[in-house]
Amino acid sequence: MLKPPPDRLYGRQRSHALRPRQEKLLAETLPRLRFGGLPAGPVWLEVGFGGGEHARALIAAHPEVTLIACEVFEQGLCSMLAALVPEGGEATAPLPGNLRLWDDDARALLRDLPERSLERLYLMFPDPWPKARHAKRRFVHPDIVALAASRLKPGAEWRAASDDPTYQAWVAEVMGAQSLFAAPRPAAVRPDGWPPTRYEAKAFAAGRQPLYWTFTRLG
Ligand SMILES: C[S@@+](CC[C@H](N)C(=O)[O-])C[C@H]1O[C@@H](n2cnc3c(N)ncnc32)[C@H](O)[C@@H]1O
Repeated sequence: MLKPPPDRLYGRQRSHALRPRQEKLLAETLPRLRFGGLPAGPVWLEVGFGGGEHARALIAAHPEVTLIACEVFEQGLCSMLAALVPEGGEATAPLPGNLRLWDDDARALLRDLPERSLERLYLMFPDPWPKARHAKRRFVHPDIVALAASRLKPGAEWRAASDDPTYQAWVAEVMGAQSLFAAPRPAAVRPDGWPPTRYEAKAFAAGRQPLYWTFTRLG
C-alpha cells in the first residue's frame, strides 16, 4: 500500500552560502513579488520552476494570466529574481505585474488555495525520487492528484514533463488509476507553445527522452 505523502513539507532549501547580490534579491525583491492572495483573472501555477526560464516565457507570452511560480531552492529563486531586476534595482526596479512567487512547498499553497481557483498547473521535470521507498515524495501521488484536481477548474489543464523512466512509468500508473483527469498518452515531442526548461536541456544532453503530458480536469 502506498503511504500518504509525508506531513513534513519542504521549506526553503540552500546548497551553499549566498552572495551579497543574492541576499539582496531575497531580502528586497522577493517580498515585492511574494504571493499574497488571488488576483482577478485567470491564474496558473508552476511547481518547481528551477531557474525560472519557463515561468518567464509564460508570463511574457500570456500577459492576461497571473502565474504563481513556486520554488523551494534559494539558488533557483535567486536566478529568477536576478533575471527580473538589474543590480542596484532590487528594491525599486519595475517587476512583471502578472508574476507572483511562492518560496515554499507548492503542496502547502495548493492546500491554501480555494477550490476551482486555477486554470492551469505546470509540473516540469519534477524531482524523480527514483527509489521505490521514496515514491511517497513524488509530486505525482494519488493524494496530490486529488488535491490538484480540487483546485483546478473543470476543463483546466495540468501539463507535466519528465525524462526519468521510473517517473514516466509511475505517472502512467498513478494517472491510469484515477478518474478526475482525462489522461491520454503523453507526447514524445514538446508540444507547440510549451517553453523549454533547463532540465529538459540536461535530459537531451544526457540522451534521455522526455515525455510531455496534458491532463484535463473532468467535471
Ligand atoms: C528537477 S528540478 C526542475 C526545474 C525546472 N522545472 C526545469 O525543468 O528546469 C525540480 C525543482 O522542483 C523544486 N521542488 C521540488 N519539490 C517542490 C515543491 N514541493 N514545491 C516547490 N518546489 C519544489 C526543486 O527545488 C527543484 O528546483
